[in-house]
Amino acid sequence: MSADVTASSRALEQDAARALPDLLSRAYARYSNFTVAAAVIDDEGRVHYGVNVENAAYPVGTCAEQTAIGAMITAGGSRVIDKVLIASGSDAVVQPCGACRQRIAEFAGEACEIVSVQGGQATERTPFWGLLPHSFGPRDLTGN
Ligand code: THU
Repeated sequence: MSADVTASSRALEQDAARALPDLLSRAYARYSNFTVAAAVIDDEGRVHYGVNVENAAYPVGTCAEQTAIGAMITAGGSRVIDKVLIASGSDAVVQPCGACRQRIAEFAGEACEIVSVQGGQATERTPFWGLLPHSFGPRDLTGN
């Protein structure tokens, strides 16, 4: 990756990270009170946001990453994920849950990263495929 591309991808990441703390107030976390906001950055440099949306029928609730992936698919485009940024109202580092790892795997590029955001800044960076090795994915069903 060239220095220019790296710099612009970091600038994009920084803008998305700064947006997450405000988004936390839009989460619908009335049962757990654990608010989460996520930003999915696709390989075309587009940013798609999501928050968790809980439900009185608890298992029906959706995670922030899930909402953000839905926004990415709705927006159209390449649908390849470069980065998933995650912030929580607790301001702790939160890694995607098991179900969201599977959801991210469906669209993750080879170098996909999970970026933890605290106080509007990227703090930890985790290579996504290390979180879900040996996964079941599209290639198992379609060969690609
Ligand atoms: N949650 C997310 O939105 N993303 C995660 O990565 C972890 C958990 C949500 C689900 C639920 O609404 C709340 O956090 C507590 O589990």
